Amino acid sequence: MSGFGRIECQKLRSKMMSAEAAASLIPSGSVIGMSGFTGSGYPKAVPTALAERAAAARGAGDPFRVSVWTGASTGPELDGALARADAIEFRLPFNSDPVLREKINRGEMDYMDMHLSQVAPMAWQGFLGPLDLAIIEVSGVRPDGSLIPSSSIGNNKTWLDRAQKIILEVNAWQNEALDGMHDVYYGTMLPPHRVPIPLLRPDDRIGEPYFRCDPDKVVAIVETSAPDRNLPFAPPDDAARAIAGHLLEFFRHEVARGRLPPSLLPIQSGVGNVANAVLTGLLESPFEDLTSFTEVIQDGMLDLLAAGKLRFASATAFSLSPDAAAFLNANLAKFRDKMLLRPQEISNHPELVRRLGCIAMNGLIEADIYGSVNSTHVMGSRIQNGIGGSGDFARNAYVSIFMTQSTAKGGAISSIVPMASHVDHIPQDVQILVTEQGLADLRGLSPRQRARVIIQNCAHPDYRPGLFDYFARAGESSYGRHAPCLLDEALSWHQRFIKTGTMRA
Ligand code: COA
Repeated sequence: MSGFGRIECQKLRSKMMSAEAAASLIPSGSVIGMSGFTGSGYPKAVPTALAERAAAARGAGDPFRVSVWTGASTGPELDGALARADAIEFRLPFNSDPVLREKINRGEMDYMDMHLSQVAPMAWQGFLGPLDLAIIEVSGVRPDGSLIPSSSIGNNKTWLDRAQKIILEVNAWQNEALDGMHDVYYGTMLPPHRVPIPLLRPDDRIGEPYFRCDPDKVVAIVETSAPDRNLPFAPPDDAARAIAGHLLEFFRHEVARGRLPPSLLPIQSGVGNVANAVLTGLLESPFEDLTSFTEVIQDGMLDLLAAGKLRFASATAFSLSPDAAAFLNANLAKFRDKMLLRPQEISNHPELVRRLGCIAMNGLIEADIYGSVNSTHVMGSRIQNGIGGSGDFARNAYVSIFMTQSTAKGGAISSIVPMASHVDHIPQDVQILVTEQGLADLRGLSPRQRARVIIQNCAHPDYRPGLFDYFARAGESSYGRHAPCLLDEALSWHQRFIKTGTMRA
């Protein structure tokens, strides 16, 4: 890579240097806000160089660790490399890197799992402490020093504004046609000065296409040309197709009863194979003129846009397979007026989710018979990823849907359990539960009514009798009969799995 092609600001050109030189400017103990959201738009070169520096320091008996704040998950060059070098002391707000996850679950570092919409306001309120440095990937620097965002926005606006110093990675792999596809809102305030956010439809533009950036805070600019992480999606299996089928039937039913318009309402879809299968199902559905107000644009959404089924997608990041990323890069001009990336405090804003009436669809780890949902902790203690945006959307959605396969780990685990071993979403925030076995519509039901329909419609047949048996015995001898439970038995399925490797009796 050469020249100043994407760095049009004369003043900033003098700050260009290698990733290693930029990494050498970072002291141990720094608190760093990095760009990156679901594997897109994260800095690649400086974190890798920082990890190498940390590994060398550790080898010399001089531990080097930093705190890392991001938008959400990043990629192996950031979370993976720094975790391998044991260089992360504290991390927030979401992670899906397996090496980092292992470090967290071994108790070797601290991790704070947060609602993604709350990170920027909490940083502004000062609740998270000072931010020393921002390392932000951009796709270009304009003559006035403003920045062209890359494939995610996440918390970048906040990190650029709050950090004492800034390192920029200008990534030539990012498509130049991204210029103009962002909507960076600068109107958020702290209480008591907050005003309504003027967004009434998913395609409303309320901000600016570029990040503002104080050039005096920029200490280094590094050029890169590395692709985003871009993990492939597995083709939908039978279970994912069945879940999608149940959901599409539910949508048809709601439209027929006049509870949803024929173009549905703005869709929020979590990431993962099941979520992608649902989007694929929408491709063959009768629904037209769809919109989405969501966190990430994944493969299925791109297909819906290309087919003309989806009119507009608002998100904070792309999360695409390598094939879909290549397709988007080749055809970005065609999609320019059909999608927009926003800061995550706006893409996930509870006020906007409630106003637009989003249909929220998220995955889960386990749900209990009363509809409490655990999205984050396996067997109550091992973090999988984090709550992400599921709480931002679920509590405020027009319809809040959670979906999963009815078993995990080859059938050794039931996803429907007597009592959730950790609760991220309380029953009041869980309206529809779907597995490949069927769909439970929990709206308007009491806890005992919920239990019957969840066990009957969603539990796997292998676990259904055990759940009915537990529920019946709890109904006879529970301390209270509103949401009956047997406290000494409620988590025994989890305990059995930990001891024997299966929840089966
Ligand atoms: N017990 C133990 N492990 C379980 C489990 C359970 N009840 N349910 C799922 N898992 C494991 C799977 O075995 C798999 O493990 P592996 O990676 O070792 O194979 C992993 O969790 C992912 O499960 P998978 O079945 O592939 O589902 P998914 O990709 O749909 O992910 C969540 C499910 C819950 C992990 C995922 O949806 C998530 O992180 N949710 C929280 C964040 C969120 O909702 N974000 C979207 C908001 S916009």
